[in-house]
Amino acid sequence: MAWGISSLFLFLFVVFNLVSAKFVLEDGYEVTTVVDGHKSGLNPHVIHALPGSSNLIILDYSGSTFYTTSFPLSVDSVINRFAGDGIPGYLDGKAANSRFSKPRSFTVDAKGNVYVADKSNKVIRKISSSGYVTTIAGGISNEYGHRDGPAQNATFSNDFDITFVPQRCCLLVSDHGNERVRQINLKEEDCLESSHSNLGTYSLWSIGIALSCVLGVAIGFAVRPYIIRHTGRSEPPLIDHDMEASPNQIGGTSSDLLLLH
Ligand SMILES: *[C@@H]1O[C@H](CO)[C@@H](O)[C@H](O)[C@H]1NC(C)=O
Repeated sequence: MAWGISSLFLFLFVVFNLVSAKFVLEDGYEVTTVVDGHKSGLNPHVIHALPGSSNLIILDYSGSTFYTTSFPLSVDSVINRFAGDGIPGYLDGKAANSRFSKPRSFTVDAKGNVYVADKSNKVIRKISSSGYVTTIAGGISNEYGHRDGPAQNATFSNDFDITFVPQRCCLLVSDHGNERVRQINLKEEDCLESSHSNLGTYSLWSIGIALSCVLGVAIGFAVRPYIIRHTGRSEPPLIDHDMEASPNQIGGTSSDLLLLH
């Protein structure tokens, strides 16, 4: 009897632990509907935010259409058609007149170009940030497979997704059907978020280097008599002359600074 009761407790203990381990409820979040497809006539499948802006791109897979909208989102947000004319198909060119074949996933690079896993068309398409659609991989083959090499000749399975990796400036293709991960390196310019901010960083850097050079030269000249007096060495005039005449004065200055140590 005692054994029966203790095994019942053990059983309940195990069951309780199994059940309670399934849910760990964390408080503090809230759900709000910010786009209502019934109202705007789109059925959202995948959404990505454009880097460095408040804009979003929404893929309506069933309508083969991409839309844009922007934060702050509300059910009254303006939603614009961005690419795909609503008819499934395969048409590159101006985004507004382009056609996709019910794509289910896409990714966005640092510049805002969109890459579409257009599986049914056996290709990866690019919608440039300026609104022009091209085929970047699989365009020539038009068949399923796992051929690597020049992207236009490459083939993919009938089931793959793509994701942009900013750190490496590449697309990774998770090719489910082939059980492979494939890599497509992108063009460098498509991974620079903004040429302005990069230029800004570069000029700040140059100014910093220039300032430290000027400071180095100034200190070099200021301490020169002191060093000569205390080391008791007089510099050979020829070398001195060479250093003054040299276009690269930093070399001479740094040797002056070295004497200080
Ligand atoms: C890619 O396809 C084109 C057109 O069919 C062909 O001329 C070219 O040799 C192919 N390149 C490779 C590397 O397979």
